[in-house]
Amino acid sequence: MKRTILALGIVMLAFYAITVLLTSTSVRSTNSPNREAGQVMDLSVPRVPQEFLAAAKGLKNPVQPTLENLARGKKIFTSTGACYTCHGLEGKGDGPAGIGLVPPPRNFADPQFHGLRTDGELYWVVTHGSPGSSMFAYAPQIISEEDAWYAVTYVQTLSGNPSQARQ
Ligand code: HEC
Repeated sequence: MKRTILALGIVMLAFYAITVLLTSTSVRSTNSPNREAGQVMDLSVPRVPQEFLAAAKGLKNPVQPTLENLARGKKIFTSTGACYTCHGLEGKGDGPAGIGLVPPPRNFADPQFHGLRTDGELYWVVTHGSPGSSMFAYAPQIISEEDAWYAVTYVQTLSGNPSQARQ
């Protein structure tokens, strides 16, 4: 008798665990703005307008991706620069202020993002904004241009290896 109750308990527990697991995954996928088909701006299209692209790509990042510099970039991204409010604390594009934005904030943790942008292009967006989106110019208005480079250096590590951060 005791064994039957025990077995029944285990089955119920397993059932409960599966339900919780299924609900949490489905909630996660519907909540993530970047999963909404057709809204995310095509990653392969540069965010810098064509006329400024060559100049933006030519910008040289003065900040090396050392641990110390990345820590400073992280602080700007996750605190003082308020980037996290839209891009999320881990840069996944799931920050509370980013919910409902069309297009949604870029998911910097997407492995496809890695290597598609030069640091100069990202810096251009942080200093000029991303045309057609709610990403406006943050530097020098909200963060200094120097801090923009630190933030960019940090962003480049979110989807890949810090040592692969591009110049
Ligand atoms: C109000 C919400 C919001 C805040 C705050 C914000 N962003 Fe954005 N960001 C966006 C949106 C929306 C986009 C547009 C996505 C796109 O270009 O496809 C974007 C795009 C970008 C891009 C370009 C992505 C690409 O595909 O090239 C960079 C880089 C960026 N943000 C960095 C930052 C940094 C650094 C900060 C903090 C200083 C910041 N953002 C703060 C909403 C925000």
